[in-house]
Amino acid sequence: MDNRPIGFFDSGLGGISVLGEALQQMPNEDFVYFGDTLHIPYGDKPPAEVLRYTHEAVSRLIALNCKAIVLACNTATSVAAGELRQELEMPIIGMEPALKPASLLKGDGAVLVLATHVTLTQPKFHSLMHQYGKDAVPIPCPGLMECVEAGELEGERVESLLHSLLSPYLDQPIKSVVLGCTHYVFLRDTIARFFSENVALIDGNAGTVRQLGRRLSQSGLLSGKSGGTVTFLSSMEDEETLQHMQKMFMLCNDHT
Ligand code: DGL
Repeated sequence: MDNRPIGFFDSGLGGISVLGEALQQMPNEDFVYFGDTLHIPYGDKPPAEVLRYTHEAVSRLIALNCKAIVLACNTATSVAAGELRQELEMPIIGMEPALKPASLLKGDGAVLVLATHVTLTQPKFHSLMHQYGKDAVPIPCPGLMECVEAGELEGERVESLLHSLLSPYLDQPIKSVVLGCTHYVFLRDTIARFFSENVALIDGNAGTVRQLGRRLSQSGLLSGKSGGTVTFLSSMEDEETLQHMQKMFMLCNDHT
């Protein structure tokens, strides 16, 4: 048993959607969430820069005595997870666009994969496409995470951006939509309005948290106490950003 906290990391607010799921599945753990708000967006940056920021963030969480790290960010995972796992012995849990569960769904039509430019151009995604991407259509979504960071989960700006991103693909049969960036999970309801009811919107949050639980249990690292805490940190280090994080966290508890 190990009562040290679990470190969560994302470029900004997106990973809070994964944290919300973790709290449901693991109510007896303490969590420290670090958002690298100062350096958003990761998805349009050179991978070497994302790698450096991810290393810095993970070092920060290790210095806070975290027993495991969740890269609650598809972009950071695709660039940095391999290297971090080689360097560190602690569990490093990453995320990938949920192509595998999407490929298991019955029915015909395209699987639209919404993710950042960096995620969609890394070797990790190419090998995912090779295995599970028969019907997948990758769609980079520049500007979308910024709407979430600004708290715009619906309304004119985000809807017209989604319209311009999605409309080239809407004239074909669509089976499912993969939310391949943790920020986009907060836009689920707004994105769903562009599709008919039978189109499934799939994210990797629950699967990632199940994987975290398995890894902690295999390594004897689950907490032995009852109840847990959540601490938010941001590289912006200002009260407003921390309050915004709390607000997004409440929102995702309301949804579950
Ligand atoms: N939330 C992130 C992801 O899952 C990255 C968003 C960004 O910083 O561009 O990919």
